[in-house]
Amino acid sequence: MIKNIIDELKSNKNLSDEKFKILLNDDTSDEYLFKQADSVRRQIYAADVYLRGLIEITNYCKNGCYYCGIGCENRELKRYRLSKEEILSCCKTGYELGYRTFVLQGGEDIFFTDKKICDIVSAIRKNYKDCAITLSLGEKSKESYTAFFKAGANRYLLRHETAKENHYGKLHPEYLSVKKRKQCLFDLKEIGYQTGSGFMVGSPYQTTENLIEDLRFLQELKPDMIGIGPFIAAKNTKFQNFPNGSLKLTLKLISILRLMFPYALIPATTALGTIAPNGRELGLKAGANVLMPNLSPVKYRNLYALYNNKICTGEEAAECRGCLERRVKNTGYRIVTDVGNVRKAVEELKS
Ligand code: 5AD
Ligand code: FES
Repeated sequence: MIKNIIDELKSNKNLSDEKFKILLNDDTSDEYLFKQADSVRRQIYAADVYLRGLIEITNYCKNGCYYCGIGCENRELKRYRLSKEEILSCCKTGYELGYRTFVLQGGEDIFFTDKKICDIVSAIRKNYKDCAITLSLGEKSKESYTAFFKAGANRYLLRHETAKENHYGKLHPEYLSVKKRKQCLFDLKEIGYQTGSGFMVGSPYQTTENLIEDLRFLQELKPDMIGIGPFIAAKNTKFQNFPNGSLKLTLKLISILRLMFPYALIPATTALGTIAPNGRELGLKAGANVLMPNLSPVKYRNLYALYNNKICTGEEAAECRGCLERRVKNTGYRIVTDVGNVRKAVEELKS
């Protein structure tokens, strides 16, 4: 019985490979699974949803991952980089909107030397002592990660993408290796970063065994955040004609992750919101508790084209904050930020 397996996962936070396999391949008790995951998330986090403001600082990348729309092999894409001033201005806007975490994400762009990154991080740290600074800039040496940390960064996101060596090799060029990837993640943890990892769901050639391997790797790494999203085909890439990952399987994995890692920060990702109009809402109901709205300048947003039809890239998305506030509220959760509390306090005073 699938329900027994779900109950076992909820109480033991673990299953045998065989039981994971049964659970992943059977859809009959999905609603029950989502409910159990939501009950665990509510026990620990109540209805709270955390916001992380995402600033996409560069779409230059020296790597050519086969799935990624901003890989170096894509000669059609117009490239951009934000200046330090532009990045600081995004932080300022974000701060005023109530964001207290800034995520600087970008391709592996050699223009952004360690010195430049440290300089930008120090400037943000100086202006916003009460904020978390998250970096998501790919694989670097332990020395570089340490330098960023000393400059004031305290979190780092680096998805492992897939944990199994032979599958990793099918998604990446030969100069990249899963061994290096994992080493980076362990380095980050050792330095003291709050670390996020994760994987794509439904990437080309992925098997159920691969997904179980991903869960096992996460058990070993014990990350603070786990970001997963469906693979979505990106034009001008090797995988442009592969089918997208499924909404259902992604939601299921969010729930499984919530039951395995009750305290984890699990975002309802932009990719999830891209494959279904209410994807992020469904993600929250399945156990996710973080949203990462885009704070990048609108004029560059469509260029950070990791995959096709990415949401929040049009003019209407200038202010994702309001949009998300409505969506989260309608789904039965609440965004927690300082501004939210201030507003609430003001409303209470008024009434
Ligand atoms: N589909 C879905 N997710 C993708 N990413 C990169 N390319 C794609 C794609 N085509 C994800 C990777 C990366 C994160 C920033 O975006 O998992 O770590
Ligand atoms: Fe970006 Fe809705 S969250 S437009």
